[in-house]
Amino acid sequence: MAQADPVQRSHSVPAPYTGRQDIDLDVVREIMSHFTFSDYEEAQELILFALQEINERFGWVSPEAAEIVAERLGTTINRVYGLLTFYADFRTEPRANHFMLLCHGMSCYVMGSQRLVQTLEERYGIGDGETSADGELSVQVVNGCLGVCDRSPVVKLDDEYHGQLTSESLNEVIQRAIAARRGGRSNGESHD
Ligand code: FES
Repeated sequence: MAQADPVQRSHSVPAPYTGRQDIDLDVVREIMSHFTFSDYEEAQELILFALQEINERFGWVSPEAAEIVAERLGTTINRVYGLLTFYADFRTEPRANHFMLLCHGMSCYVMGSQRLVQTLEERYGIGDGETSADGELSVQVVNGCLGVCDRSPVVKLDDEYHGQLTSESLNEVIQRAIAARRGGRSNGESHD
C-alpha cells in the first residue's frame, strides 16, 4: 500500500508563545483540508498528525476541533479523545494569558526550585500542568534543564528567562507580566 503523504506541514513549526488563543475552526478546517488519504487505514494513521498540527498552532485542541478531525478522517470522537488524553503533549484546555516553564532540573532543585513550586501552589493555587482560576497563568514544571544553570533557580515566563528567584521575586515577575499585559490592553495595544 502506498504511504500517504500525511500533510503539507506548513503549520508544523511551533509559534512563540503569544498568550491565550481561541481556536479558529475555519483554520482547523483549512489544516484538515491538507490531509489526503485513500482508505480508512491511512486516515487512521493521520489522526495523530492532525492533532499535532492543531495543538502546535493553537496550543490546545478543543472538543469542536476534535470533532472536525473525527469527521474529516472518518473516525469517532471517542477515538480522537482517547488519543488526546493518552499523550501528555496534547492539551484539551487553552493555556492562560501567561505561560511559565519552571525548571526543576538538578541545579535549580539544589538552589530552591521546590520553594517556587510551593509559592505557585500557595499564591496562585496551581501545580504542574494547571492554570490559575483567573486564567492569567499556566505552569509547566520541567525536570530537564532550561540551559541557564548559572542563574538557578530559573523560570521562563512567556518568552523571558528570570533567574536567582526567591518566592518574592517570582511573585513580582508574575505580577509585572500581568500588569504589563493589562496596561498594554487598556492603552489599546495588543500583546496577543
Ligand atoms: S537545571 Fe535549571 S537551568 Fe539548568
